[in-house]
Amino acid sequence: MNRKKLIAGNWKMNKTSAEAVALAREIVQGAGTRTDVEVVVCPPFTALESVAAVVDGSQVRLGAQNMHFEPSGAFTGEVSAPMLRAFFATHVILGHSERRNLFGETDELVNRKVLSALKNQLRPIVCVGESLAEREASLTLKVVQTQTERALEGVSKELAAGIIIAYEPVWAIGTGKVATTEQAQEVHGFIRGLLTKLQGEAVSQRMRILYGGSMKPANAPELLAQKDIDGGLIGGASLEARSFLELVKAAAGPA
Ligand code: 13P
Repeated sequence: MNRKKLIAGNWKMNKTSAEAVALAREIVQGAGTRTDVEVVVCPPFTALESVAAVVDGSQVRLGAQNMHFEPSGAFTGEVSAPMLRAFFATHVILGHSERRNLFGETDELVNRKVLSALKNQLRPIVCVGESLAEREASLTLKVVQTQTERALEGVSKELAAGIIIAYEPVWAIGTGKVATTEQAQEVHGFIRGLLTKLQGEAVSQRMRILYGGSMKPANAPELLAQKDIDGGLIGGASLEARSFLELVKAAAGPA
């Protein structure tokens, strides 16, 4: 199965609207017409509208970093799927480990968000991954299985194919410690098998599984060459156009 690679930049809580516009412009210039790799940028909420105007008409897609599962209501400080759609966002990161660990997001909450995103034609990028303590206790596959199964509860086969899973070992995020290609492929292969069990072979073969955690131009080619690694969810290296564009190039494969 030939899945198109996807490179998504998670800008986290970085970039003012003006800084985000400048970065998005460079990315559009460097990757805006290429169709061999799917490119998504996920600025903070405050820059979504301005970045939407920059990526408009290019191949670069817009994603958010979080959302509430209700369409509207008394949820101070929250943003809904229809609001993101109004900015022409196409993707939304859900269940990032920073949301889970710093803001108490549970598997159940992530599941409600996934269902709401799909209902509103947003593609969820669902993050799963183990902590260092869990890896050391040999719990990696169990943790990833529970997070993946719970996030996908109640999702129909037709909609599941649009979901993107991001395997982000928590110990590799922002630490400079990247999972070895063997460690990453082992978990990606396991997730693919799980998706086959949950959604059937045809759907699982279409679903993209991204790797995230200190991915950089230097380590990306080897990771992206693995059979079940379909792209990357990039933090630090997505904050500069040069490194991000190198990752996009790496995803296109050897010239
Ligand atoms: P880093 O690339 O900075 O390790 O962050 C990964 C990440 O959390 C992307 O969502």
